[in-house]
Amino acid sequence: MLGAAIRGEFPIFEHTTYLNSCSQGALSTRVRRAYREYLDGWDRNGADWEHWVERTEAARGGFARLMRAEPAEIAVTTSVSQGVSAIVSALPFERGGRTRIVISEYEFPTVGQIAHAQELRGAEVVHVRPEPDGSIPPERFAEAVDERTALVCCTTISYRTGHRHDVTEIARIAREHGALCLADSYQAVGAIDLDVRALGVDFATGGTVKYLLGSAGLGFLYVRSGLLPGLLPTQTGWFADEDIFAMSIADYSPHATARRFDSGTPPVPSLYPGVAGVQIIAEAGVPAIEAHVSSLVDRLLAGLGEARVCSFERFTIHGPGIYSWRRTA
Ligand SMILES: Cc1ncc(COP(=O)(O)O)c(C=O)c1O
Repeated sequence: MLGAAIRGEFPIFEHTTYLNSCSQGALSTRVRRAYREYLDGWDRNGADWEHWVERTEAARGGFARLMRAEPAEIAVTTSVSQGVSAIVSALPFERGGRTRIVISEYEFPTVGQIAHAQELRGAEVVHVRPEPDGSIPPERFAEAVDERTALVCCTTISYRTGHRHDVTEIARIAREHGALCLADSYQAVGAIDLDVRALGVDFATGGTVKYLLGSAGLGFLYVRSGLLPGLLPTQTGWFADEDIFAMSIADYSPHATARRFDSGTPPVPSLYPGVAGVQIIAEAGVPAIEAHVSSLVDRLLAGLGEARVCSFERFTIHGPGIYSWRRTA
C-alpha cells in the first residue's frame, strides 16, 4: 500500500493524523536532510554556485515531469504570485492589447489581486460566479469570454471549496476567442495527475509548500512553448536574461525559453528541500497518490455519514474521488 511504503519518512505521523497538506505538507526526514545539505555546502564551499545552478535545473526538470511539459517550458519562481505577475506584465493592456481578464470566483486571493492591480494599466476584470450548488460549469465562462479577453484564470482545484474546474473545456473556450488560459494548480500538483497538453492550457503554476512536501519560497510557471517568442515579461530579472554572465546593463534580452519568466537570484535555500519533496512524490507516483487520496476521501465520507457528524443536503460527484457537498448540520 502506498501510504505504508512512505509513512516511515515522516516522523510526525508517529503521533499525529496530518490533515494540513492543503496548507503545508508534512516534514519528511529527506527534506530535513536537504536543508542540512544546503547549510553544509555553504559551510564547505561558500557560494556553492555550481550546485545552486544544478539544483535550479533539477527543480525545473522535476516540475516539468510532474506537469508532463518540457523543462524549457518551466520557469522556476519564488511563488505563484511571481509567475502570475510576470504573465500579466507581458500583456499589453495599456498599449492597444485586449483589456479583459476573466477570473473564476474560486481563484486564490493572489490571482484576483494581481488581476485587479492591472486595472491601473487599463484592464477590466470580470468574475465568473458559482451556481447555487457551488459548481462553476464551463458555460459560465463561455458567457464571460469574448474578443476583448486577454486572459482567463480558472484554478484547477479551488482552495476554498475543493471544486474542480473543467480546465480542458475552459481552455478550449479561451482558445476559441483568442484568449490565453491560466490554471493555478497549487491545490492539484502532486495530488492529482496533471498533463498540461491534455488540459490545453497556456500557463499553469504551483509551488512546493503543499502536496509537493517542500518549503515556502519555491514555485514554478509552465508556459506553452509556442507562446514564448511573443511574450515579453516586463517584470523580469537577471536570471531571466539570455546570458546571465553577460552582466549587461545596456539592454533587455530575455532568454528564449520559459526562463524568461525567472527573476533574480534563485531561491537557493528552498531549492534543496523543494527538489527532495518533488522526488518523494515522483517515486510514489502521482496516479497512485491520486487513487490513494480518493480512497481516503471515500472512507472519510462514509465514516462521517455513519457517525452522523453531518448530513449532506447536496452531494455532487465531479469525477473519481472528487466531491463537493453542502452540509445541513
Ligand atoms: C491555489 C493557490 N494558489 C496560490 C497559493 C499561494 O500563492 P503564493 O505562492 O504566491 O504564495 C496558494 C496557497 O498558498 C493556493 O492554494
